[in-house]
Amino acid sequence: METQMLRSTLDKLRKSEDLLICEQKVSSEYELGAILKYFNNKKPVLFKNVDRNNMIAAGGLYGSREIIFNLMQMDKHNRIDRFINALINPMDFNVVEDGPVRENIIKHNIDLGKLFPIPKFNEKDSARYITAGVLVVKDAKNNNYYTSIRRFQYLGSNKLSVLIASKKLMNDFLELEKQNRAMEVAIVLGYDAEFLMASQYSTDLYGVDKYKIDSALRNEPLKLVKCESVDLLVPAYCEIVLEGKIVPGKRELEGPFGELMGYYGMQKPQPVIEIQTVMHRDNPIFQVAFPCREEHVSNGLVREIELFTNLKKVVDVKDVYVTEGGGYRFNAVASIKKHNIGDGKSAILSGLGFNSELKQMVVVDEDVNIYDPQEIEWAITTRAQASDDFTIIKSALGSALEPSHTIKNASDKIGIDATKPIVGDTERFERTQIPGYNDIDIKKYFPTIK
Ligand SMILES: Cc1cc2nc3c(=O)[nH]c(=O)nc-3n(C[C@H](O)[C@H](O)[C@H](O)COP(=O)(O)O)c2cc1C
Repeated sequence: METQMLRSTLDKLRKSEDLLICEQKVSSEYELGAILKYFNNKKPVLFKNVDRNNMIAAGGLYGSREIIFNLMQMDKHNRIDRFINALINPMDFNVVEDGPVRENIIKHNIDLGKLFPIPKFNEKDSARYITAGVLVVKDAKNNNYYTSIRRFQYLGSNKLSVLIASKKLMNDFLELEKQNRAMEVAIVLGYDAEFLMASQYSTDLYGVDKYKIDSALRNEPLKLVKCESVDLLVPAYCEIVLEGKIVPGKRELEGPFGELMGYYGMQKPQPVIEIQTVMHRDNPIFQVAFPCREEHVSNGLVREIELFTNLKKVVDVKDVYVTEGGGYRFNAVASIKKHNIGDGKSAILSGLGFNSELKQMVVVDEDVNIYDPQEIEWAITTRAQASDDFTIIKSALGSALEPSHTIKNASDKIGIDATKPIVGDTERFERTQIPGYNDIDIKKYFPTIK
């Protein structure tokens, strides 16, 4: 039985009854995306009949934290330790002779739009986009494998453009381009939660080999096979691999495209990839991610490691949450055990500094459920006073993914210390409690209630 990549994930999702199967014919233009959006991108769906020839697609796979935790056999309490452990104890991967992804190898007359149901999502999107593809490159300096999700605009036939927001990857390409050299790439589709999570670790920060992080996360070596036309290794059990080169000296207009926060990103020239070889399994499952919401959970989970470790240096941090409403990037909540008057403010300083994209940071006590927006509202309205507890920093670094930033090309930051005081009239903050409330078994009173 397969233990790695998408087919093993679908088996697990079937067993846990988390997978919806759509037998109905669905168009990759708008209809497929609309169905994923209907479920808020949190429900894994296997589409069995997309466009022509009953093409198969899967989407909404990793849009829920709970599903990722279940698939990786972790929970919200041990996740940060598990993610840090993979970083400090990476494991070697395993190169195998052959694998199912090599079942079909196409080298001529490649038209990606005919081979796969590449979706168009939003009305004003410039084209069809591959949104779940993991770009694989090898770092020329240390041979480390560098994986990351990038969006790929379909330009017709074997051509894609790629949006690279990461400075390191773009600089590596620009270095090669100066020498008129191409960058060899592979795009991987049909992967599992471990592969996704590994791809989201920051390369700039850790400089790690993400295949080794992946192996550590799954606690067994990631099985890899050689590509046909580029000097790269790719997962033996994934669904589809597109091999090619980011070509020097070429740019194509990319966008507009409906982005993470539900606005259209602007049109800009971006590098072009020419695909030379396509490898795929028999009856390949084309992986889709609703742009760019669902897999961003994974990005947020990695940010939480960085936020947690930063806060741990200065305060007694209990948990952190980079929230969904803030696109898993712009808004964070931390719970702390307060020992000193200044702990709340110091947590804000440390939190807002950990990542240039974070805009808002709320710090609460450990009795507040940081995953419940109502609890956060409750803490802010009952434990904070704006003139003392709200801190505004004007015009710092921000993110172009967030349109209010583009107005002044900088971002204001706000930190809210919603922790209760530890000196003075502290009994004013005692929460009401009903003895025995937590042990109540409601089915005893209403046996049919769900
Ligand atoms: C669903 C999803 C879509 C993403 N799309 C892009 C993208 O189009 N361009 C980009 O530069 N980064 C994108 N990212 C972020 C990168 O994948 C992420 O920053 C990277 O994997 C971490 O490596 P880094 O060190 O290069 O930042 C996306 C992330 C996710 C989860």
